[in-house]
Amino acid sequence: MDAFPTATLRSMKRSSDIGRTGTLAVTGGTPLRGRVRVGGSKNAALPMLAAALLTDGPTTLRRVPDLTDTGLMLELLRGLGASVEDDRGTVRIDAAHVRPGDRPFEPSPGRVAAMRGAVCLLGPLLARCAMSGGGSVRLATVGGCDLGPRPIDRHLAAFEALGATVARDHGGVTVSVDRLRGAEIYLSAPPAPGLPPAPTVTGTANALCAAAIADGVSVLHGAAREPEVVAVGELLNAAGARIEGLGTDVLTVTGVRRLRGVSGRCPAAVVPGDRIEAATWMIAAAATGGRIVVDGVEPSEVAAVAAALRASGARVSICGSAGHRSIRVDSCGRPTAFEVRSAAFPGLPTDVLPQLAALAAVADGTSLLTDDVFPDRNAHLSRLPRFHASVERAGATAVITGGDLHGGEVHAPDLRAAAALLIAALAAEGSSRIGRASVLLRGYERPAEKLRALGATLGAPNWRVGKRPAARPGRGGWRPAGPRRILGRTRPVSPETSACSALA
Ligand code: EPU
Repeated sequence: MDAFPTATLRSMKRSSDIGRTGTLAVTGGTPLRGRVRVGGSKNAALPMLAAALLTDGPTTLRRVPDLTDTGLMLELLRGLGASVEDDRGTVRIDAAHVRPGDRPFEPSPGRVAAMRGAVCLLGPLLARCAMSGGGSVRLATVGGCDLGPRPIDRHLAAFEALGATVARDHGGVTVSVDRLRGAEIYLSAPPAPGLPPAPTVTGTANALCAAAIADGVSVLHGAAREPEVVAVGELLNAAGARIEGLGTDVLTVTGVRRLRGVSGRCPAAVVPGDRIEAATWMIAAAATGGRIVVDGVEPSEVAAVAAALRASGARVSICGSAGHRSIRVDSCGRPTAFEVRSAAFPGLPTDVLPQLAALAAVADGTSLLTDDVFPDRNAHLSRLPRFHASVERAGATAVITGGDLHGGEVHAPDLRAAAALLIAALAAEGSSRIGRASVLLRGYERPAEKLRALGATLGAPNWRVGKRPAARPGRGGWRPAGPRRILGRTRPVSPETSACSALA
């Protein structure tokens, strides 16, 4: 997304940390060091918030991250008639008054145009219609990051299989239903001719919500195995749904008539840690020659990222005890060239390829990064050369020859491209300015505060303190470390210590 829509700006009051104009000044060349805790996952929180529309009683979710996109989703829910209370990450949603009337449910088109995650409303609203004896949902064309074509044909095919009718027009889509009936549903499609079929993540969440209250049994084939889908499925099961196979590509859903509200005390009501945020800090540490520990995410969810970092020469290890495991990344000097390819979970997420491109830009040799999920995702590639990176494209493959980066001026085009440009700026010698860096707030909670705590030198006149209290050093938050300049790029490898706390 290039321009920042008005609705997005308005909802940014829930987010913190970067001012409205969002230019970020970065002085690079300091290795990141210390400890960082990730927030709740954006891509889990969005469908979980939407799924709360389905429950009869109030549902309370915890660890909802404070992001532009979650702010937009809360506004969308309010606009549909839900009562929403948001107390620093604990969000209580009561959808008792969300009922279909003579007119279709219509989530605010302005907000829908600002965020791809708005598509997650379709399944729950359709289910809400079916539970009330019929109705329809009108969804304007969804917006979000420009990653190339982002069809929703698999979502719509799933609804049709369950008995809905779909009418498309130039401004969006209207889906109508009297009752939903269990069906065989196919959720994978090739992203482009010649590529392997990819399961749709939000499409699987939508199909789960609709199938959860359909009459009879549905079988979802080619379902997404992503942790975000598992999180939605577990929330639905806690509400009384009967979903089997979560985490596999075949889900069996036995429909139930009603779903009950879920208490915030239920483990399924807690949004999981954001694996893409974790991956971003891990890659930033490797690209700046740093050493960090990342808390608050399940290490197995970033295993593919850890493998990519190891291929680039970094050391990645897991430390801590069961339930409180952390990930330690030690750059071990200048990275070496590597080759990666995105894939559906448990493969390497497409959402970390831009950040890995920034790592490749400082690696010794030529790296190949292929995005099979979004083959046209290239906004970061056209901007990395502003930092003197050498980037070429061959179809869905980025060919990046690493070297010393220098500070540059650039505008951030979308969320993960912004993360990539930020990493490049942190790894570059000299000063950089990233315009529209506020797009980072769509997916990163208090990114500036976290990076400063890791020793990054950031500054901009329009940055302001967040409304949520900062994490306290040494109390489950970060521990600051003294800055250390990158000198000569090849540093002696420090002996690995077994305890994460040795980093602090
Ligand atoms: N696809 C189809 N037809 C469909 C749906 C998808 O052909 O009906 C194709 C897409 O073109 C793509 C592939 O299937 O090639 C996967 O797309 P998917 O539907 O899984 O993407 P999404 O659900 O719209 C979510 C995340 C994205 C993330 C992708 C892939 C949310 C809100 N968004 O999008 O996250 O890149 O899955 O993992 O969950 C981000 O966080 O920056 C982000 C873009």
